[in-house]
Amino acid sequence: MAAKIKHILKSQQFSRDWLEKEFFPLTDKMKKLVLSGGRSGDLEGKTVSVLFYEPSTRTRTSFQQAVLKLGGQVIVTENAKEFSSAVKGETIKDTTRIMNAYHFDAIVMRTDYAGAADEAASVSTCPIINAGDGAGQHPTQSLLDIYTIFEHFGKIDGLRVAFVGDLKYGRTVRSLSYLLGKFKNIKVDLVAPDSLQMRNDILAYYKKHGIEYKKYSDIADIIDKADVIYLTRAQKERMKEGETADGSGVVLTGELLDKVNKKSIVMHPLPRSSDINEIPEELTDDPRMLIFKEAENGLFTRMALLKMVIG
Ligand code: NCD
Repeated sequence: MAAKIKHILKSQQFSRDWLEKEFFPLTDKMKKLVLSGGRSGDLEGKTVSVLFYEPSTRTRTSFQQAVLKLGGQVIVTENAKEFSSAVKGETIKDTTRIMNAYHFDAIVMRTDYAGAADEAASVSTCPIINAGDGAGQHPTQSLLDIYTIFEHFGKIDGLRVAFVGDLKYGRTVRSLSYLLGKFKNIKVDLVAPDSLQMRNDILAYYKKHGIEYKKYSDIADIIDKADVIYLTRAQKERMKEGETADGSGVVLTGELLDKVNKKSIVMHPLPRSSDINEIPEELTDDPRMLIFKEAENGLFTRMALLKMVIG
């Protein structure tokens, strides 16, 4: 039996071996289980606290549904910033201690500053699953993303991945970068306006792990070259004065999609924004557009992770 995972805090914690030998196969199994209309008793008698300090649709709902499909129970605080004692100034460490006092088996938390999940883990007696910590990381999203890529191509080595949009504040591209670093001969195209380019910590990681990368300001320059075109939304809620994203150079159009290789795929962690409109509605049903498959894989991924952490 595989060793239990204590916490899920950041993508660097996972090895290639774990991804290929444990995570992909178990996620495949969860997918088969759900698609055949089944459920399991892996979390029978277990309770999970889902504590969200930032808005969410997919991550929160898929975690809840994952717990239920595995036979566990879940209590959700979906607006912890307003409805928990955070509003009275309680720290994440104290809130974690309280969840521990109520004997939850795991805490899934989305927090509004980088490092918050680590703080929680430093005091928690049960596993903490980071469901996004401010502009830090979103490890479970990157796991569903890498699973989606692997499922499509049957490999990760040798792929060329274009990250497009707000690469400065988007936590999903940061976490996925860390996972790509576990594989060989990866090329990354970074398409963003200068003010929203990938931060230096990730660029240093690319260098250290042999990822060849190049910066661009217009998606048109890479559209026919990348295997994976991973678009993102402008994280307006995190931007500082003077930082704006008007969408120039980072929006997909029908004309651009026509140039995408037939075997390539288009991804997006969602939500896509309706103002910048980085993936227009009319492109949704293109066979290369895997955005809703990606979201569905989030359910299977989170079932696999919960089983590995507390099953
Ligand atoms: C992402 C997030 O929360 O970081 N959403 C998600 O979990 N799928 C992306 C985003 O908010 O832009």
